[in-house]
Amino acid sequence: MIVSLVGLPGGGKSTVGRQLAKRIGARFIDSDAVLEERIGMPIRQFFEQFGEVAFRDREEAVIDELTAGAQDADAPALVLATGGGALLRPANRERLRDRTTVVYLRSTPEELYRRLRHDTQRPLLQVADPLAKLRELFEQRHPLYEQTAHYCVDTGRPSVATLVNMIMMQLEVAGLLPVQNAQNAQKGP
Ligand code: S3P
Repeated sequence: MIVSLVGLPGGGKSTVGRQLAKRIGARFIDSDAVLEERIGMPIRQFFEQFGEVAFRDREEAVIDELTAGAQDADAPALVLATGGGALLRPANRERLRDRTTVVYLRSTPEELYRRLRHDTQRPLLQVADPLAKLRELFEQRHPLYEQTAHYCVDTGRPSVATLVNMIMMQLEVAGLLPVQNAQNAQKGP
């Protein structure tokens, strides 16, 4: 089983993903971290040198590779945090939806701006008006996240632990988690 987390940058995909993996006894992989290892430089630098299209090509290949064995019965459980722009490519939308259980961490642009206003690493946010950029990204991507996701959770108010519990309960209802884990989820950390 692979659970993949999608959503705009700053919505907590890596933080929630890491905790979720710990709770369900799965491996955690951040596709951006795999990409940085492959390209041998920070994503921001790769964007500057080679452009967004080259980055998306690499990203598509990594997502294909990481999800390829999802249906194997003996494949270890995996939680995969994806980059915020991954669903721009139809191939990624199809592969993630067909091969994995997709959870959309839905956040408002205003909430993300509060978290990311001092960010220097995300290439798309190094602009004069990052809030306007986040609003534009939301407009463009929210429909893609919604159409691809099997489940959606709002990140605005809940703590990370609560978000993890909410996701675990959805996975349990879908029959994707053993009941033992769901009971622990209800008790909380
Ligand atoms: C991007 C989001 C980043 C990273 C790259 C492009 C985007 O990932 O993949 O900077 O297009 O929104 P996070 O969502 O983990 O920040």
